[in-house]
Amino acid sequence: MSNELVRFSVAMPEDLLIAFDELVARRGIARNRSEVIRDLVRDALIEEEWNNPYHEVVGTLTMVYNHHEGEVGQKLDDLQHQYYQQIISTMHVHLDAHNCLEVIALRGSSGDVRAIADALLGMKGVKHGQLSTTTTGQWV
Ligand code: NI
Repeated sequence: MSNELVRFSVAMPEDLLIAFDELVARRGIARNRSEVIRDLVRDALIEEEWNNPYHEVVGTLTMVYNHHEGEVGQKLDDLQHQYYQQIISTMHVHLDAHNCLEVIALRGSSGDVRAIADALLGMKGVKHGQLSTTTTGQWV
C-alpha cells in the first residue's frame, strides 16, 4: 500500500453532483471535492468494519448522568471494572451540583464495544449519551 495520491474520474448524474458541491461548500473553505470524497470513503470503510462484530475497533462513549439518581455512579464504576480490558481510559467531569459528564475510550471487537456502550447508556440515571466510532485501520 502507498499514500501516494492517484487521480481517477467519476461519473454521476448532474443533480447529484450539484448536491455534492453544496455539501462540499457546507464543509467549509478548506474542503474541496477530493477531500470530501476521501472523508466519505473513510466513513464507509469504518462503517463496514463496525458492521463486522469481530473486527477490532476503537471508539469513545460520551454520556451525561445525574449522580443522585439511584446508585448510577457505583453501577457505572462496577461495569467499567468488569470491562477493564475494553475500557482503556475514562474522563469524568462534575458539570454542576447534580450532573456528571463521562467520556470513555473503548477498544475491542465491535460487538463487545457496542454491547458495553449499550449497557452503560441503558443504565437508569443516564440522561444522554452517544458512541462515536472509529478504527485503527491502516488506510485512515
Ligand atoms: Ni461527577
